[in-house]
Amino acid sequence: MSTSLAWGRHYLMTEPTHYRIDYAINPFMDTEIQPDPARARAQWDTLKATIEELGGRVDVIAPREDSPDMVYAMNLGFAATLADGRRHALLSHMRFPERRNETRSAVEWFAANGWSTAYVGKDGVGPTFEAGDVFPFAGHLVAGTGPRTDEMALKTLATEMGVRVMSVRTTHAGMYHLDLAFCPLDERRAIVCPDALAPESAEALLDLVPEPLVITEEEALSTFAANSIVIGRTIVMPSCPDRIRPILEGWGFTIRIVEMSELHLGGGSVRCVTNPLDIVVGRDVPVVYGGEVIPT
Ligand code: ARG
Repeated sequence: MSTSLAWGRHYLMTEPTHYRIDYAINPFMDTEIQPDPARARAQWDTLKATIEELGGRVDVIAPREDSPDMVYAMNLGFAATLADGRRHALLSHMRFPERRNETRSAVEWFAANGWSTAYVGKDGVGPTFEAGDVFPFAGHLVAGTGPRTDEMALKTLATEMGVRVMSVRTTHAGMYHLDLAFCPLDERRAIVCPDALAPESAEALLDLVPEPLVITEEEALSTFAANSIVIGRTIVMPSCPDRIRPILEGWGFTIRIVEMSELHLGGGSVRCVTNPLDIVVGRDVPVVYGGEVIPT
């Protein structure tokens, strides 16, 4: 059995109090189809309770009335404990102005909770960066670029965190964050949807993952299966296609399905609403002083 991920037991989440579809910035969003607030709340509560039941911890950040997408807390910023022990968050600089107020709350929350913070860009100036594009895996932070994150942001990500960043280029409008197409499962395995990526990036990512579970575009888009989180040997997922379940179970994982249909209306699922706070540089990704970016 391959070693379980050490990170993924502590998350930041935003209550869905102000979750609405006020605008459409991805192909899933339609302002004519609004989420049911009570059902969205119940789904969010169940996900939080499930994480806690599995031994995980959840911190919550207060939602903003002016930020209906803030429930997708993964995009508040990328947080990690650095080689010198400092807890550091690189705040997102959202592609769309509609989401930029979220960063005002994120910077306050991180500062109030003992984190130092940095920006790649701010208020539309400088490269954009959305943390839903970033994962530690196999010696790198793997970072998706294109729809939301600019290649230029990765230099700052690598330098700020003191790590090696591998850049992969996203070319699919429906998989606008890497977390819709990629999900690390343990130290050797990950769900990968190569159709989301430019051919050379797909090849590089498949080379990086010793045992990939390749899913189709249809599986990724219709089930949000890659937008899952892993707590030890349990995968918390919004749904698991019949083809995929035996493979995951054969690898020793337990599947926990949580209904996320209301959150899917905004274009996100389990992973998008949970931001890991327990990634450690030097444990989950090697220390590379000064940082390094590997393009693909
Ligand atoms: N409506 C949000 C947006 O388009 C959804 C974000 C989903 N988050 C994620 N990490 N994929 O920005």
